[in-house]
Amino acid sequence: MSTRTAVCPGSFDPPTLGHVDIIGRTAALFDQVVVAVLVNESKTGRFPVPDRLAMLRDAVAAYPNVTVESFSGLLVDLCRAHDAAAIVKGVRGPADVEYELAMAHMNRHLTGVETLLVPARPEWTFVSSGLVTEVARLGGDVSGLVPSEVQARLDDVSAVAATDSPEQSDSGD
Ligand code: PNS
Repeated sequence: MSTRTAVCPGSFDPPTLGHVDIIGRTAALFDQVVVAVLVNESKTGRFPVPDRLAMLRDAVAAYPNVTVESFSGLLVDLCRAHDAAAIVKGVRGPADVEYELAMAHMNRHLTGVETLLVPARPEWTFVSSGLVTEVARLGGDVSGLVPSEVQARLDDVSAVAATDSPEQSDSGD
């Protein structure tokens, strides 16, 4: 039987528990899951890519069939390299669906790869990378919304008044 691989792509800037939930649910459905931090060379982002990889690896350590990597280029090329059966993304509501649909159609147009949109659990529908960063920077409590490793780094960020320059966040994520 062939191995079924899914790619969970995103900016993960930083990862939230909403992201981790989608990754875990994908890991239960596929043999292998590649979590891919897509790098946009022309934008800075909130956290350096190596930090995002470290935070993600820590957050998904419990899933033996999940790997984490970064990729600079077209998502469909990464999918081809892994012979991925599907791209999986979480959606929190209609705005996310609208944002994801165009990309799903484009990626299918380019290579035929399918995108599966997984509904976020209700408890994560208000959580985004941008919002948790802003709340933490202004001294708010985001524990319970982000993995512990992210919480620790957000505490540092709030201590040093970081600049907030989202990498590629049409969806706020
Ligand atoms: O976390 P996000 O911002 O929702 O993730 C968006 C992401 C990184 C998945 C998307 O911007 C992407 O696929 N970028 C890689 C470049 C690419 O393939 N662009 C064409 C998308 S149809």
